[in-house]
Amino acid sequence: MGHDKLRKFAENKTFSCLLEPSSEEILRDGYFNLRDHSIKGNWARTMFGREEAEIVVELGCGKGEYTLALARRYPEKCFIGVDIKGARLWRGAKTATEENLPNVAFLRTRIEFITAFFAPGEISQIWLTFSDPQLKSENSRLTSPLFLERYRSFLKPGGLVHLKTDSRFLHEYTCAVAKANALQVLTCCKDVYSAGKEELPDPVVYEVQTFYEKMFLEMGLPITYMDFVIDHQGPYLHPSDFDEKYWRELEGKRRSFGHKAAD
Ligand SMILES: C[S@@+](CC[C@H](N)C(=O)[O-])C[C@H]1O[C@@H](n2cnc3c(N)ncnc32)[C@H](O)[C@@H]1O
Repeated sequence: MGHDKLRKFAENKTFSCLLEPSSEEILRDGYFNLRDHSIKGNWARTMFGREEAEIVVELGCGKGEYTLALARRYPEKCFIGVDIKGARLWRGAKTATEENLPNVAFLRTRIEFITAFFAPGEISQIWLTFSDPQLKSENSRLTSPLFLERYRSFLKPGGLVHLKTDSRFLHEYTCAVAKANALQVLTCCKDVYSAGKEELPDPVVYEVQTFYEKMFLEMGLPITYMDFVIDHQGPYLHPSDFDEKYWRELEGKRRSFGHKAAD
């Protein structure tokens, strides 16, 4: 491991806004029977020192651009960025610490373990920013029925999921999941930067560009955005009319770069 990464990992331990639980803590009862972390249900008080707070989570936050931008814009709410990569989280936690932002936290964990960290109704919104489209593994896609089931366990009724992506595959797949489950889609925009601003619910959608987003914009890829409510009775259904092969072929090989640079 490079010297720079080691330095960041060491500094991560000094950030009070960054929680880095070991996988063993969560997995002690097995992969399918996760052990709850002690912060579950206690984020407002323990992490943010507030009696109550509306809490918004960014999953796969990388360097935390959305978590930070939203926290600056909405000081009355609290924001938690989640990612597994310590060197990327270092950037977000360092900025939050330098700016003394009281309403930002970061959590280093696998998103698959997310239900161990949030209690029913603890979270009001989820942002998914440039998530890996997981072309070959539906259950790894962050908008699959499996993940929506996890989100439902901690989102407030009426809670929103925001998806901003360069991946037409992921966008169309998510539209198909929403349709299959009759989820209420509030916004569905196929090109954020050519859309009228009034089409988008919040200026952060076009004002904030993440590390990955800048790379995709340089490649000339349109950026899509949608938000939807995941309220739904019963199990979430898989989309039956999503032409996976067609959208996968369109997606091409464009994502096979840039990951090293991101650290
Ligand atoms: C393509 S990057 C996007 C990062 C950032 N949102 C951006 O737009 O620059 C996807 C991020 O998701 C994280 N990630 C992917 N799968 C994950 C998982 N299962 N658990 C936690 N983080 C994950 C990666 O570490 C990476 O930082």
